Parts: sequence; C-alpha cells; structure tokens
Amino acid sequence: MPKTIIVSNRLPVKIKETDSEYQLVPSEGGLATGLGTVYKQNGNVWIGWPGQVIEPDKTEQVTSQLKELSLLPVYLTQEDISEFYEGFSNDVLWPVFHYYASTYTTYNPSHWEYYKSVNQKFKDVILENLEDGDTVWIHDYQLLLLPALIRQVRADVSIGFFLHIPFPSHEMFRLIPWRNELLEGMLGADLIGFHTFDDVRHFLSSVSRLLPVPISSNIITSGERTIVVESFPMGIDEKKYSGLPQTSEVKEQALQIQDIFIDNKIILSVDRLDYSKGILQRLQAFELLLNDHPEYIGKVTLYMVVVPSRDTVASYAYLRDQIDKKVGNVNARYRTIDWTPITYYYRSLPIEMLSALYSTADVCLVNPMRDGMNLVSKEYVASRTNNDGVLVLSEMAGASKELIDALIVNPNNVTQVKDAIIEALNMPLAEQQRRMSQMRQLVAKFNVKHWVHIFMERLQEVKLMQRSMQTRHVHSVTAKSIINRYRGTSKRIIFLDYDGTLVGFKANVNQASPDAELYHLLTQLSSDPHNQVVIISGRKHDNLGDWFGDKNIYLVAEHGAWFKEQGSDWHKINGLSTAWKKDLYSIFEKYVDRTPGSFIEEKTYSLAWHYRKAEAGLGELRANELMNTLKFLATDKGLQLLPGDKVVEVKNMEINKGKAALSLVEQTDYDFIMALGDDFTDEDLFKALPDSAITIKVGTGASLAKFFVRNPTEVRGILASLGESVPVS
Ligand code: UDP
Ligand code: G6P
Repeated sequence: MPKTIIVSNRLPVKIKETDSEYQLVPSEGGLATGLGTVYKQNGNVWIGWPGQVIEPDKTEQVTSQLKELSLLPVYLTQEDISEFYEGFSNDVLWPVFHYYASTYTTYNPSHWEYYKSVNQKFKDVILENLEDGDTVWIHDYQLLLLPALIRQVRADVSIGFFLHIPFPSHEMFRLIPWRNELLEGMLGADLIGFHTFDDVRHFLSSVSRLLPVPISSNIITSGERTIVVESFPMGIDEKKYSGLPQTSEVKEQALQIQDIFIDNKIILSVDRLDYSKGILQRLQAFELLLNDHPEYIGKVTLYMVVVPSRDTVASYAYLRDQIDKKVGNVNARYRTIDWTPITYYYRSLPIEMLSALYSTADVCLVNPMRDGMNLVSKEYVASRTNNDGVLVLSEMAGASKELIDALIVNPNNVTQVKDAIIEALNMPLAEQQRRMSQMRQLVAKFNVKHWVHIFMERLQEVKLMQRSMQTRHVHSVTAKSIINRYRGTSKRIIFLDYDGTLVGFKANVNQASPDAELYHLLTQLSSDPHNQVVIISGRKHDNLGDWFGDKNIYLVAEHGAWFKEQGSDWHKINGLSTAWKKDLYSIFEKYVDRTPGSFIEEKTYSLAWHYRKAEAGLGELRANELMNTLKFLATDKGLQLLPGDKVVEVKNMEINKGKAALSLVEQTDYDFIMALGDDFTDEDLFKALPDSAITIKVGTGASLAKFFVRNPTEVRGILASLGESVPVS
C-alpha cells in the first residue's frame, strides 16, 4: 500500500545521551509536537535528524531503535550541524523569515554550501525508501531545496511542501543572495502550504518578481507542471489536550499548583528560547504592570516556561543571558517575603505538567514578535474545558487570524500588552466563557487531523488537475492526430492570433515584429492551395498590413473591425459609434499621468491602456482600478472590457473575433477549421467556431479551447508539422 513519507529536519523524538546510553525523548517545537501524534497511520514513515551527532559505531543501534517508531534517521556531522543547522537555517533563514535580518546578518557562502549538501543527504535517504505511488511531504525552512532535488530524479512523484514559519515580504526575502535557488527548490513541490493567507501572498509576490514563471491567482506553472499555493492553518491534537485535564495525574498536579499560588492569579507563558517569541518584551510589560499598578504586587505571578533551544547559536545564547538578567532584576526589585513575581523555568516539561499549567493558569500570555502559527495558544484553549481563562495573543502570530476572540495585542506596544493583562485579570467570568467557548469550537474542528486531511486531499486534487492538463496538452500523440486529420482534408481554414501566439510578448509593442522563421512557416502553410491562413489580431490594421499585406494571408485587424483579403484592400465595418472614445480617452489619460511607463493606443473602434513597462505590481493595481471605473460606463455605452496581458482594452461590443471568424467560416464549406490564441479576446473565437473545430489555447489558464500549448514555440512546432517541414517528434 502506498505510504506518505514525512520529511523534516528534526524527528519527533531526539536522542539523549545519559551515562553513555542513548535514550529517545520527545522533541520540542510545533512541527514535532503537532504532527507527532498523527504520522504513524497507514505504514507512513518520518525521515529526519535525530538531534545530535551519533558515533559511527552506534548508528546501527540508533537506526533500529528509531525504526520501531517508523522513524528513519538522516545522520549529520558536527560540520553539518554548525554550518547547515546553526549557520544557514538558524542564523540566516530563521532571522530573515521572522523579519530579524539586519545589516549585521552575514551571508556566508560556506553555510550555503552545507545547506545544499545536507538537503542532498535528505534526498538520498528519501530515494532509498521511496516506492511507486508514495507521497512525499516535506516540512519547513531547513529543507527548501529538497522538493526540486526529488523532482529531478522522480518527475512523477506527488510532493507536498509545508512551511511552518512565516514567509516574509519580498523586501526581506530578496536580501538573501541565494533567493532564486530557494524558490526554485520549493517549486519542485506540487502543493505548497503556509499557515496564513499573508504568507501565501508574500510567497507569490516573491516568485512573480524573481522567477520567470507564469502565475495565475494561486497557480504557478513551472515547465510542464502546475503548482498550487494555499494556506492551511495547522491545528493541534485537540482531543489529547482536552482529555489530559481529566486524568488523575494532571488533576493532582493542578491541585498542587493551585495550593502554591493560592492567593495569586497565574499568567502563564510557554515558549522555546527564541528572540521571535517576545520573551524580553513580555518581561518589560510585566515589570510595567508592577510599576504602574502596585496593587498587583503579591497578587499576580508570571509563570514563565522557556524550553531550551538552539543555544549553540550566539544570538540564542545571548538572549538566554538577557532573560536571566531581566528575571533576576524584576524578582529582586519586587519580591516580598512570601511572593516572587516571576517563576521561571528554563527546561522542557513533561506533557502532564504542561497540561496542569494550561488548565490552572488564569491568563495565557502569547506575545511573539513573529510566529508562523503558535500552537501553545491553541493548546491553552483546548485545555480550558470549563470555558474560563483568558488568552492574550500577539497579532503577529498566525494563530491570531483564527483565535479572534483572544485579546489581540501588538507585541511592540508594551503598554498595550500591560493593559491587556489587566483586562484579562479583571474579565468577568461570563465574558471569559463567551470568548473561550468560541475559540474552543474552532480549535476542536480545525484540529491536526483535519489539517493533514485537507492538505493531502488538496495534493491529490492537484495531481488530478495536472493529469487532466496533460491530456489537453498538444504533445506528440495529439499533434499526430491533428496532422492526420489535416492530411485527410482539402478545404482548410486556420485562424492565428498574433501577440502571445505567434510571437512572445515584448516590452515594446512595436518590437514584436515577425522574424524570418515565422515568415517562413506562414509562407509554407499558405502556399498550400487547400489552406486559407487567417491572422486575426487586436493590432491596428496598418500595422498588420505592413507586416503581412503582401502575403497570401487573410488579415483581420482590431478584433474584427477591419478585414483584408489577400490581394485586396482593407475594408472596415461601418456604422458603429465612436462617440464614446472621447469620454474614455480622458479617463485613460488620468491613468497614464499616474502610472509611469503606461500609454494609450487608439484604434478605430477601441482604446487600449498598456502597462507592460510600468512598475511590477503598480500596473496591476491601476489596471484593476481602471476596470472598476469602467465597469458601469461600459455597459451603459455598449462597450466590452478586455483585460489582456498587461493591457486593458475597451471596444464596441458589436465587434469581436468570434463574429469576424464566423463570417469567414460561413462563406465556404470548410472541412478543417483550426484556431490558436492566447488571451481573453480569443475566447470569443473558440466559442463561436463549430464543434468540429480544433481550438488551441496558448497558456495554461482556464479556456473554452479543447487543447492547449505552453508558448509560441510550441505553436510554431505545430505550424511546422502541418507544413510538413519538420516531422512530428
Ligand atoms: N512544548 C514542548 N516542551 C515543553 C513545552 C512546550 O515540546 O516543555 C511544546 C508545546 O506544547 C508546543 C510546542 O512546544 O506544542 C511549541 O510550538 P509552537 O508552535 O508554539 O512554537 P515553535 O516552538 O514551533 O516555534
Ligand atoms: C520551529 C520550527 C521547526 C523546528 C522547531 C524546533 O517549530 O518551525 O522546524 O524543528 O522550531 O527548533 P529546532 O531548531 O530545535 O529544530
């Protein structure tokens, strides 16, 4: 039975050496705790690093210990750990992705080399265990190159990728010298998941600015594959966290905590040691509370659990010292004979103790400066089986997009955090219950099983979508059947759009003139007396006339406003209104004035606003604005709006490529009708032609065409095959 191979840098358990004995202990961090309870179904396995260097003579023993838990190790050397893990992953990617990059960030090429080579090590272990039909699900920022590494070897395998940390804005991401390689690595996956929609937006914006790949809403086309990018907010094992407080062990520990803090309200915080978690800012807010509101002295305790993490990275070691100092300072300043303001643990806690704390704490304070999701906030909510307790949550955590009934704070605003603590401490029970029950419902429904399920379901859908695209793609088999049909017919008409179909788009519309190869192909095709070749374009008639006026080709210009039969002059459709152009021209001019690089093109029955040379993003924004402005005007005046490739065009409704093509088709009894086009205006053509017509869209977006090709090069390949100059490959 096919299995899922989960891959992450860290396995859900790590090796701990005590008295030269290896023991397995749970790993820290949301990825390991979140997925740790669900991965084992259906023969699935998890590949990752067991957390420390293992002596070569011990690897066999460790491998078999891990195998019992369906875990497969990737062994890393001390150099790998310092360069790949501490260096590139945690001293470059982690800070940049959490908006902590600074002028002091060093981009050390040696770290990068190790990052590449360790990703290769993971690839090797995956390939050793990958069987036909298996799905590979790769996790997190340490393995961004891995999807493409697997794809290069196994083109057909289903690969999912999920990023557990935020994806930063392009302004941050672009700082990394190897940014393109990182994105290309991720694009090896079929489905790329993030916790929030903001991460999706940021990722798509980086891809669109850095890589030459077409993107249509959340679908990226890379070579032959379509890749879907979506948000899947991760959940927790809700049943486990809501069940634990009912167990006798947790009940007992909860009673002990209540005994110790009998006249005190507990504010709980739990995080890994990390500067992204806002631990120092939390201490500042608590200090401010004691300073500004002495009435809380002796009444409130900050119970702060910091789980050791990455303390071999300098910035983490430094943070640890800062926390020690600050805690010492506040405690020294405010403690009384029978009360200590901050109870601070620097250690990992057993799950029962954690549950006892979650279920007893009056307030849970989660104030990261940035956090992909933050599972601690969800664990607190799930543990509040009485529906009481208050969650104070940073708006910079992914969880804040879901847990909207928490007291949401900006973690940089220490005064606001302090005020939220006061509000939480004084919140009436009914209000606590109203908020908590809403959040509990959400955490129960969107649990980790649900997360795995919808991710995997979507991955399967993406694979199906890719396969159905493949059957519509004009590749060797379909091309052969088109050619066979062509050969068996004698009255043929072939409609060809120009820009984006016969030639690629150029920054300057006038630069897209036909090249020698194109002339050759068209001459070859049109020299067959059985063929009527038609170029049907939105371009101006004199422009098409200059290029093809002397050829044996029928020309249709300006979307069907002008016609020119070979050997004759141009004639245009008469009697259509152009009065509307004056009003719209002044609107278009405003957009030209506000958008450097854009310009207006005037045609007989249409006006076009081009923004190909405008700043990326700005052009699209203005185009949307313009479309909104024109929407109602256009209906009133009988006009049609055409959003094209970096252009917005408005034309008389009466004119369209479909009508123009039909008027030609109806003149003769054609037995072979074919049309190729790439944009919105060509859809009219595909729609109008009879069912027997072969319609081919250039590009992978939605279309009424029966088939598609990827680009003008493939179009030329078809034309060449029809002209029999190149055998079909
Ligand atoms: N956690 C842990 N050991 C502890 C205390 C907490 O493993 O001693 C867990 C906690 O229950 C949570 C995870 O660590 O599941 C932290 O995940 P979160 O998403 O909040 O932050 P991350 O560490 O992934 O940045
Ligand atoms: C976060 C990351 C995980 C990582 C965990 C613990 O949750 O998203 O990928 O495993 O922190 O960090 P560590 O460096 O100890 O693996």
